[in-house]
Amino acid sequence: MAETHYLADWQPYPFRITETRLEFDLAPRGTRVRSGIGFHRELPGDLVLDGVGLNSQVIAINGLPLTESQFRIQDEQLIIASDALPGDDFTFMAEVLIDPETNTALEGLYLSGGMFCTQCEAQGFRKITWYPDRPDVMAPFRVTIRSDLPVLLSNGNPVSQQDGVATWHDPWPKPAYLFALVAGDLVAVSDSFTTASGRHVDLHVRTRPGDQEYAGFAMESLKKSMKWDEEVYGREYDLDVFNLVAVDDFNMGAMENKGLNIFNSKLVLASAETATDLDYERIEGVIGHEYFHNWTGNRITCRDWFQLCLKEGLTVFRDQQFTSDMRSAAVKRIGDVQLLRGRQFREDAGPLAHPPRPDHYQEINNFYTATVYEKGAEVIGMLKRLVGDDGYRSALDLYFDRHDGQACTIEDWLAVFQDATGRDLSQFKHWYTDAGTPRLTMVEDWQDGRLTLRFAQHTAPTPGQPDKPARVIPIALGLIGPNGDEVLPTTVLEMTEAQQEFSFDGLGARPVVSLLRGFSAPVTVSRQISADQQALLLAHDTDPFTRWEAGHDLALDSLIARISGAAAERHIEATTQVLADALTDPAFAALCLGLPGEDEIATAIAARGDTPDPAAIHVARETYLRDLASRHGAALSALYDATIEEEPYRPDAAGAARRSLRLACLSLLSRIDGGERAFVLFGTASSMTERFGALGQLVACGNDREALELLRHEFSDNRLVMDKWFMVQPLRANPETAVERARDLAARPDFDWKNPNRFRALLGGLSANHAAFHRADGAGYDFYADWLIRLDPVNPQTAARMSTAFETWTRHDDNLRARARAALQRIADVPGLSRNTSEMVTRILAAGA
Ligand code: TRP
Ligand code: ZN
Repeated sequence: MAETHYLADWQPYPFRITETRLEFDLAPRGTRVRSGIGFHRELPGDLVLDGVGLNSQVIAINGLPLTESQFRIQDEQLIIASDALPGDDFTFMAEVLIDPETNTALEGLYLSGGMFCTQCEAQGFRKITWYPDRPDVMAPFRVTIRSDLPVLLSNGNPVSQQDGVATWHDPWPKPAYLFALVAGDLVAVSDSFTTASGRHVDLHVRTRPGDQEYAGFAMESLKKSMKWDEEVYGREYDLDVFNLVAVDDFNMGAMENKGLNIFNSKLVLASAETATDLDYERIEGVIGHEYFHNWTGNRITCRDWFQLCLKEGLTVFRDQQFTSDMRSAAVKRIGDVQLLRGRQFREDAGPLAHPPRPDHYQEINNFYTATVYEKGAEVIGMLKRLVGDDGYRSALDLYFDRHDGQACTIEDWLAVFQDATGRDLSQFKHWYTDAGTPRLTMVEDWQDGRLTLRFAQHTAPTPGQPDKPARVIPIALGLIGPNGDEVLPTTVLEMTEAQQEFSFDGLGARPVVSLLRGFSAPVTVSRQISADQQALLLAHDTDPFTRWEAGHDLALDSLIARISGAAAERHIEATTQVLADALTDPAFAALCLGLPGEDEIATAIAARGDTPDPAAIHVARETYLRDLASRHGAALSALYDATIEEEPYRPDAAGAARRSLRLACLSLLSRIDGGERAFVLFGTASSMTERFGALGQLVACGNDREALELLRHEFSDNRLVMDKWFMVQPLRANPETAVERARDLAARPDFDWKNPNRFRALLGGLSANHAAFHRADGAGYDFYADWLIRLDPVNPQTAARMSTAFETWTRHDDNLRARARAALQRIADVPGLSRNTSEMVTRILAAGA
């Protein structure tokens, strides 16, 4: 059983580092790393350094090699006792050999298509050399790289570059997790940016030769991000150079290494022919995210990994604001709420529930979760709502002012809000320390022009946290009169008790409550509302989120009624108006036409205390979509024709909105035209957005052979397009055949499963096909488990992350539960299973104990 780390055990590091010097002699097998680390003692204690898998050639202090008796190595740490150290100031030196070529875990220094690159967050630096690999030890770095490769990069500013030797200096003290090195045969798109105070910054987006033609949008996104952070947060860039590198083998999205951001190539490279609107939006958002980390994460970092949401929640919040400003704020908000509910609420309701700031972990890589990121961002949104825009701005100014150059905690973060606004945030802190999604219940009472709203909040127990005190919940609401007029504009109520009531007087007729406007708090809502009231909100609400939500709930109720055999026509009728207004706000209409997915329906059924049946949900949803399409065939067809692409593709919000409406219409129409329109669109469309939208429908219709052949032919040497090709088939295929199809795809020579993008495409596509993954004969679980077992020794981080596909296993019937348990147990029983996957599978299995 792996060791558990506790927040309560944190101790300050006894030394400060004055400078870290590193020298790399790059070679695929046997890269030599020489280090010189200047230490200055601040507290009593031994010198403890972390190191994993290092072949140590020399360990020395002040130039004198240590003998075996002067240090010891145990539990992946090198310890030099206090009395073996020469005084309070000394230089630790090491020479180690590491092996990038065999590093398939993609953590530390590794090779991706002939390019050397690094990934050090959270604890990858210890695979490069001996070091205090913890975020509260910050130092300026000087790095020398020797290699024949033409481009040699590290953090900070370039000092010199000649004859295969490059030296970089990063003056800003940083923890080791922000270290990066890249070396390769790279080409670049280059530009520059002048900061508000006049600093000239050279910008480079670097790719493999041939890929530079896809890097232009990334560069534009970077410049927008730099400008936005100056305008909105007053934050400027602080080095002479900014490098952004695209790599094909990468465990996650991207990494904010100081001055040298490294990206998964799918979040950099785009063209009209190869990327969809969604890809473009993500690229812009993630480039913003990593850039914004320069202040929220790098200049101010985390004291320890329990504080991860200090940088991630805040930086997600900032990238959400950025996207809202660049595109449609309403569409962005609705999309973010869908993501939060689909991933974070699901996590919070299951065996993996944890607070945004956890207080223990075994493997920190397992805590880069929707709760830390997305809920971490929601919590900041609530803070902002509670203290107001001005309060938020002054708190952030104080944060940057007070903590620049420091490694901080959530307590520090809350203190700046308290100090800047005078508000007591002790109750608010529960949002950081308590897991689980509060359920907010509202009961209405109407008497003589007075509306009384009685609220109750309840949070169910989560693993290790049985009792949940009441939290402060900002409830934004408005009132809509029976004729559709708004009789109360948005008002924010602050609920602080377990039960609390609020009244509104002097109302003429009984209004409908537009509740939780803008999704003002990450809670689930339980209330009595009739289909007519939902339809009224869908037609007249002034808040786009609650307006969308009304239609969404109406659809969800109708779908669930269908599963139990009841007829439910109200949503089908309400769709008439959505279609009639569609062209005035195409993106909003597209969101309304996209019905709740199967996993969401299953979650809703489970939340009502029933047992979801994945196969029945699939059939009911498909029939419902067919009915909806038949009822509105003419209007859908007219809209589909009206939204035809007339101009060359541009990845802007307006174009994306129009295309999203067109594809939403296509999705419904394909249910009744046998895929005819999709077939034509696939053959004629010029953008990947439309082609890929059409392809999904063709796969769902089982009429995909020709299109898939064509696409493969055209793009067999484009990895990103081929990832889509691998993903769409298991994702959209009929659940009865999707597993077999995935099996055939996995046997192909181009299923390069050690590449995380390719692996995620195929296996992630399958697990997102709800009825296929949860197939009654367990074939989905078995196939998936086989592949996790195969991936685990090669890339434990990715294997562990992907085990979350099983996190809802306990909500199903006895048969599915038994089959999921057996698959999970089979993974758990693998000898030598990684610490990553072992922790995940143990926690997931514990739910069924
Ligand atoms: N800090 C990165 C971000 O949020 C994500 C990250 C954490 C990461 N660990 C990683 C990326 C490991 C790649 C591999 O932007
Ligand atoms: Zn981040």
